[in-house]
Amino acid sequence: MYINLSGLNILVTGASKGIGKAIATKLAEAGATIAIHYNKNVREAENLASVLGNESRAFQADLSKPDEAANLFDRVALEMGSIEILVNNAGMATASDISSKEGDWLDIWNNTLQVNLSSCAILCKKTVEFMLKRNSTGRIINIVDNAGFKGDSAEYMAYAASKAGLISITKTIAQSYGKKGIKAFNISPGIVRTEMGNGIIETKGNDKATKDIALERMTEPKDIAPMVTFLASGMADHATGSTIDLNAASYLH
Ligand SMILES: NC(=O)c1ccc[n+]([C@@H]2O[C@H](COP(=O)([O-])OP(=O)(O)OC[C@H]3O[C@@H](n4cnc5c(N)ncnc54)[C@H](OP(=O)(O)O)[C@@H]3O)[C@@H](O)[C@H]2O)c1
Repeated sequence: MYINLSGLNILVTGASKGIGKAIATKLAEAGATIAIHYNKNVREAENLASVLGNESRAFQADLSKPDEAANLFDRVALEMGSIEILVNNAGMATASDISSKEGDWLDIWNNTLQVNLSSCAILCKKTVEFMLKRNSTGRIINIVDNAGFKGDSAEYMAYAASKAGLISITKTIAQSYGKKGIKAFNISPGIVRTEMGNGIIETKGNDKATKDIALERMTEPKDIAPMVTFLASGMADHATGSTIDLNAASYLH
């Protein structure tokens, strides 16, 4: 099976490191042009753009700020001419003790919901509007987390809630716009070896990460990227609305 994504423009959020970087790399290897979104890691993102080639470019936006998600989409669409696929990957997971000061807890709650849910929703909305207006077809791939189904430990309540919201956005888009040619998928990892994953392991302990999985090694970003590439290819369009678990059998539906 050969996957050729040349001619497709793909916006990958949070592509400066971790899972997003692996996804952007795999998609570009299949020929796509990547809009490499980043927030703080400008050097990583610019460097990745030159390594990936295919006229890939880096775009900055702080997705904790409501205006910046919409603005990001508009800039990418203008500079690249079109967007055929959106990969909502950028995310944050900050632990917050429920006994911490009310304001601190609420700040983390609001920030998490803005980055992981509201900005993703804005990018989904802009993508759907863009495709409907042009009568074009396309795909949205949202990177969620099995915490969105099963919940999480109390300090990651906001994180789990944000991912549960994103899961249902995907399902709604799939059901509402399939006949217009717009497909939407969730990819749901367990703990993945990245900066975020390492932070979660530090909070929960290494045992939690390794005991729950059925395979001998932890999931890495390179284990996530091929599935995104496959979904982007259109070969799995009849899976629209579904969630693909990539969690080494640590959580099964
Ligand atoms: N790692 C895991 O165990 C795991 C498990 C399940 C699901 N996931 C999901 O997979 C996705 C990627 O996670 P990861 O592990 O690769 O995380 P990561 O290594 O921490 O990378 C996070 C990415 O998101 C971007 N980002 C963070 N806050 C942002 C903000 N305020 N505005 C814009 N961009 C922001 C970062 O950009 P800069 O670095 O440029 O600032 C970076 O590119 C997330 O949605 C996460 O929830 C991860």
